Amino acid sequence: METWRVLIAYASRLGSTREIAQAIAQVLSERGAVVEVRGVDEVEQVQGYQAVVVGSPIREQQWLPEAKDFVQKHRETLRRLPLVYFAVSGLMSNPTPEHFHEVYEYLSEVRDFAEPLEVGIFAGSLDYNRLNHDQMVKVLSKGLPEGDFRRWQDIRAWAEEVADRLQLELARRQASEPKP
Ligand SMILES: Cc1cc2nc3c(=O)[nH]c(=O)nc-3n(C[C@H](O)[C@H](O)[C@H](O)COP(=O)(O)O)c2cc1C
Repeated sequence: METWRVLIAYASRLGSTREIAQAIAQVLSERGAVVEVRGVDEVEQVQGYQAVVVGSPIREQQWLPEAKDFVQKHRETLRRLPLVYFAVSGLMSNPTPEHFHEVYEYLSEVRDFAEPLEVGIFAGSLDYNRLNHDQMVKVLSKGLPEGDFRRWQDIRAWAEEVADRLQLELARRQASEPKP
């Protein structure tokens, strides 16, 4: 396949989602993609990429506002591209099917803006020492535990699946392009 350029746009307040974005980028690069990893606020436009991955932590039962704004702002272009979302969540430190479905539901608003091909839902990381009083109250009220719950093997396995899916989708689109 020709060069495929992938944008991974992420929001992150305390860095754990940024590191997941970088791990996904590593896998996609190993699979031959030319990957750019950018904070959502650094991205001017999404044209020029063959696929886009957008990720955000969950806070207050939703993606961070800057991630939602990003999808809303670029939705016309994103709807035409192979698109992938991922969410990073404290609830998934206890990865039950119920928690998975709950976090999946938090994404319904951004899925209405533009429907992705794939959704990844991962456990995140929480360091109570880095939270202010209000944040501590919110986190404790939800019973979110302290610790780094990211399972890098699962994240990389998911990114491999995404690479397969994107390559198939791009090949399909190329095959259906009108020949000169
Ligand atoms: C103030 C606050 C609120 C949070 N609210 C939720 C929530 O509603 N649901 C959830 O699953 N995780 C919640 N989390 C956990 C974060 O999603 C998790 O810690 C994530 O790894 C943070 O990502 P970041 O390091 O990229 O900022 C919250 C964390 C904080 C600090």
